[in-house]
Amino acid sequence: MNYITEINKLKREKNAVILAHSYQNIEIDTVADFVGDSLYLSRQAAKTDADMIIFAGVYFMAQTAKILSPEKKVILPNAKAGCDMADMINLEQLRAFKNKYLGIPVVCYINSTAEVKSECDICCTSSNAVQIVKSLNTNKVLFVPDKNLGRYVEKELKNVEVITYPGYCPVHEINTTNDIKATKALYPGAKILVHPECREEVIDMADYTGSTSGIMDYVKNSSDKEFIIVTESGVIDRLKRDYPNKHFYSINNKPLICQSMKLLSIEDIYNALKYEEAEIKVDDAVAKKAVKCINNMLGVNNG
Ligand code: 13P
Ligand code: SF4
Repeated sequence: MNYITEINKLKREKNAVILAHSYQNIEIDTVADFVGDSLYLSRQAAKTDADMIIFAGVYFMAQTAKILSPEKKVILPNAKAGCDMADMINLEQLRAFKNKYLGIPVVCYINSTAEVKSECDICCTSSNAVQIVKSLNTNKVLFVPDKNLGRYVEKELKNVEVITYPGYCPVHEINTTNDIKATKALYPGAKILVHPECREEVIDMADYTGSTSGIMDYVKNSSDKEFIIVTESGVIDRLKRDYPNKHFYSINNKPLICQSMKLLSIEDIYNALKYEEAEIKVDDAVAKKAVKCINNMLGVNNG
């Protein structure tokens, strides 16, 4: 069977749209309608007029799509695609954290569950976290669950104290300054591009820090030819495809892999469209509160 032809047929028949994160296996791009970072994909989920969204990403992304478009059928083709960082905080842990610091606004990274979002004030992604915290016009915020992104925001803004929850992404946290130094020694002319989920001291060594799309835009607009990319390997795969005359290196020449992001194949997308299994459901009461948190973000200068 030619999966690509069949998927395109099913998409038309069912008025479905396929959203894919840029960490997905690159073959998924051949059937995706939109590929990008978390912010871009949540905007697409909010404005699509499709009846069905197939989300090639991880659980919190599909859940966010469902919260933004409750009347649509949202399918995560593999229900096991979770996010280790999102799983580091649950509602009970959030409440305990908030209780320690009463009266301080709570910003939550989009990499969190619907329950956690439902009790936070405003959401953010890695591409707008600085702008979102700034928009609150306050000198103190609580930030969950990513301690690294929170610390990055604090350093960028300088005049806001960011009290962070101790969560992190294992894929980014693993990279140390020694790894960066060793890779830079191999490629001294390369620019270092880092995702803000990395450790503070790694971010300090970066020529540029930004979301997956931010990193890809940096390469697009740069006259440099060599780049060390400190984020998941899907970004490097796409950069190599899109800029065959430039060179992209991973840390210690080993790919950083988010296992959850790599669970899907074209065949899984076909099966999801055909059988519509693993539909995302969000409790109504939770969704009603969580949507405010997400829409507060999308409302800040259009997100
Ligand atoms: P982006 O917001 O850059 O898409 O990042 C999402 C993510 O999960 C990074 O690990
Ligand atoms: Fe979650 Fe990290 Fe995977 Fe992103 S890379 S989905 S933060 S585990």
